[in-house]
Amino acid sequence: MLEEFVIQGKRQLKGSVTISGAKNSALKLLPATLLTDQMCIVKNVPQVSDINTMIQLLGTLGSSIQRTGDQIRIITPNIKSSLAHYEIVRKMRASTGVLGPLLARHGEASVSLPGGCAIGARPIDIHLDGLSKMGAQIELKDGYVHAKGQLKGAVIHFKFPSMGATENIMMAATLAKGSTRIYNAACEPEIVDLAQLLNKMGAKIRGQGTPDIEIEGVDALHGAEYETMPDRLEAATYAMAALITNGKILLKNTRVEFLEPLRCLNAVKVELTSDGPVVSGSVEDQRPVNITTAPFPGFPTDMQPQMMALLTQVPGMSVISEMLFENRFMHVPELIRLGAKIEVMGRSAHIYGKTPLSGAPVIASDLRGGTALVLAALAAEGETVVKRIYHMDRGYANLMHNLNACGASVERLAQQDQKIQLVR
Ligand code: EPZ
Repeated sequence: MLEEFVIQGKRQLKGSVTISGAKNSALKLLPATLLTDQMCIVKNVPQVSDINTMIQLLGTLGSSIQRTGDQIRIITPNIKSSLAHYEIVRKMRASTGVLGPLLARHGEASVSLPGGCAIGARPIDIHLDGLSKMGAQIELKDGYVHAKGQLKGAVIHFKFPSMGATENIMMAATLAKGSTRIYNAACEPEIVDLAQLLNKMGAKIRGQGTPDIEIEGVDALHGAEYETMPDRLEAATYAMAALITNGKILLKNTRVEFLEPLRCLNAVKVELTSDGPVVSGSVEDQRPVNITTAPFPGFPTDMQPQMMALLTQVPGMSVISEMLFENRFMHVPELIRLGAKIEVMGRSAHIYGKTPLSGAPVIASDLRGGTALVLAALAAEGETVVKRIYHMDRGYANLMHNLNACGASVERLAQQDQKIQLVR
């Protein structure tokens, strides 16, 4: 059953939110456990639908999984199947993260090519180039990547610091013969998280968090217990919810450095308390900004849509250039339906700020774009209905509950698709 959020806007948000474990980290920590036949315990795993999809995929490969709240106990005594089926991969691209571990442990893997997604084409050529440099024989056939072979260490220069490719190669290299060097690797905190779990499992990885990672292959990995890092994208989203409503939110279970991308705004107050950072500020007081998305430590593409919603309320003209994904402005026409004034020119959007927003029905096109609509709805006069909220369920645990606990008015209802009779 499709559901929608019905949001009454113009309420100031005040309160606290406990940030979940990072979806984009947990989605790699779980497949990493395929590299051992021993029990692994992954804690602080967010209760979001993408994690359910990953659990489903790992189950088809031979993992036994027990989930208690935010904790997952997972063991894969044997790889029963090395096939990541199209029906799962098409739902979630992060499924391609099983390619490296399957190949390293089992010597073969068949993973459906993910195809494009709402935000862009998103090829996986960098993953495949890296694996073939490590000796994998790769064949693309019937919509699948078929990879096999005994992996050996290699020197790999990425043409772009892809997160997914860094993770896949790093996992594959842990069990390869000899040492692997990745140059121009992604530096995101989620890469560091994955390397830390792998090292706890007995891998020998150095340089994680820098563009130059070295992995010395070992004969086997063992079980480990690991706590997923907090979700930096979720933390920044609630910080922006505080700002767009001129409110104040305490962010529990996060790291203050995750709010760094918000420093481009000039009047955000971040108070450090023993429970976590408290974010407050008024949109009116911010100056317009000129932001370009870039790999870490640049401005994250996954915060771009939410930041755009916020900038609709900041006086003056701001510019956002989206350099990672070619189609990540799909929230723009929906923000315009709420009253925003935004012009898109190629990869840049000009946001003319401080336009009054008023509630309207809008449609979420993807996870972060949908969240941008929720933020805009919080600042809009009247009622906004956000449809296709399954996108937000993929990455935000308890979004409605957390916002309401801070004073928002968000209801979750069965999607009402009104049939309109046209009278001639
Ligand atoms: C991760 O996707 C995140 N997903 C994305 O978060 C995030 O937007 C993205 O990194 C960038 O930060 C997960 O971690 C599950 P990439 P990933 O490989 O790994 C090009 C969200 O909202 N590229 O770093 O797939 C690619 O087309 C999601 O939570 C190639 O050309 O991203 C893109 O332009 C959405 N060839 C750029 O690199 C390749 O082989 C970055 O992609 C791989 C990537």
